[in-house]
Amino acid sequence: MTIIKTSGDPSGESQPGTNKTSKNKPKQEVTHSAEASIEDVNEQANRRSSLLSCQESNSDLRSDQAVRPDTLSEYIGQSRLKTMLSMSISAARSRGEALDHVLFYGPPGLGKTTLARVIANEMQARIHLTSGPSLERPRDIIGLVHQLEEGDVLFIDEIHRLSRVAEELLYPAIEDFVIDLTTGKGHATRTMRLPLPKFTLVGATTKAGMLSNALRDRFGFVCRLDFYTQEELSAIVARTAGILSVKMEAQGVEAIARRARGTPRIANRLVRLVRDYGQYQGAEVIDGEMAARALDSYQVDALGLDITDRKLLSIIIDNYDGGPVGLETLAATIGEDSDTLEDVWEPFLIQSGFIQRTPRGRMATPLAYQHLSRPLPQGLQGRLAAGEIKQLDLFQ
Ligand code: ADE
Repeated sequence: MTIIKTSGDPSGESQPGTNKTSKNKPKQEVTHSAEASIEDVNEQANRRSSLLSCQESNSDLRSDQAVRPDTLSEYIGQSRLKTMLSMSISAARSRGEALDHVLFYGPPGLGKTTLARVIANEMQARIHLTSGPSLERPRDIIGLVHQLEEGDVLFIDEIHRLSRVAEELLYPAIEDFVIDLTTGKGHATRTMRLPLPKFTLVGATTKAGMLSNALRDRFGFVCRLDFYTQEELSAIVARTAGILSVKMEAQGVEAIARRARGTPRIANRLVRLVRDYGQYQGAEVIDGEMAARALDSYQVDALGLDITDRKLLSIIIDNYDGGPVGLETLAATIGEDSDTLEDVWEPFLIQSGFIQRTPRGRMATPLAYQHLSRPLPQGLQGRLAAGEIKQLDLFQ
């Protein structure tokens, strides 16, 4: 069954951005799903509900609608990507054509879905939102492409989880804008090739390596999203606070940005938490101290690590002598599935130098020992002194 929500609002609330002054709204947003909606899929994946999980919760989905940027000029960060998209969008628009297919990859929470929406908005096109696991059977794909109109954007989240049949049906659809319909069985099998309108596929994945070469090669743009800098996160926090009418001093903004793990989704979630804390405390303005106190009370530490991160690091240090320890073993010890560990928790810890990924498994770095106030073991001290490993600082 394909559920289509033509309201364009997965939460059933108001249209995104209605409280903002954006003239260029996409014509329509359509959410497609076979068994579960895109939110349900995300919610299931988010079994460990955490403040600092980069996975999108239903609550994020609802509240992010108000603060989500609609245009490239509102979008903060990923500047090289924005320049490239901006040029290609204006070129495609002046030719009156659909934009070439785009693949976004990178850790969750960095803006893949937001950018897909921005693309649709800038192209003044409709967007259809779905995800790889929802497109299991041929009829899921056929039902979906059947609804496409000229210039539409089709967004497939978790595109690495498309079934093989779905992927094969998609090849001609994205390459030649045709779909092959098969009817009958055995000798009576017939294939009919039907034309499709020219559309733009925007795929998103946290695991680019799991995409087949054949699928990856069919995207005109393959774009990696990077973690955001402190300055970019501060700009996002200040913008969100402004939209939510939260009065925040520069030190408050910076305190949140520093603990947001390079991830806008987390930054926006922390703004809402700090707002609630400040309101409860009767604060008129959020200053640096109030923001820090709020985040401390939610157990988000000064470098943005939460209980799960600290537990992960202390397990590597205490149970496995600092590693190396295999991903599966580590996942089993902390009671998390290895995909979530690898896609959700690890990227920031690796990027910021707390964990090192080696061929023999994960290792805690000197920074992890230092952050958890543990003495450095002899071996690490020696390697540090010999310059074999580096002491890393966040976002160096
Ligand atoms: N909210 C979430 N991500 C954002 C971004 N990149 N720019 C502005 N606001 C955002």
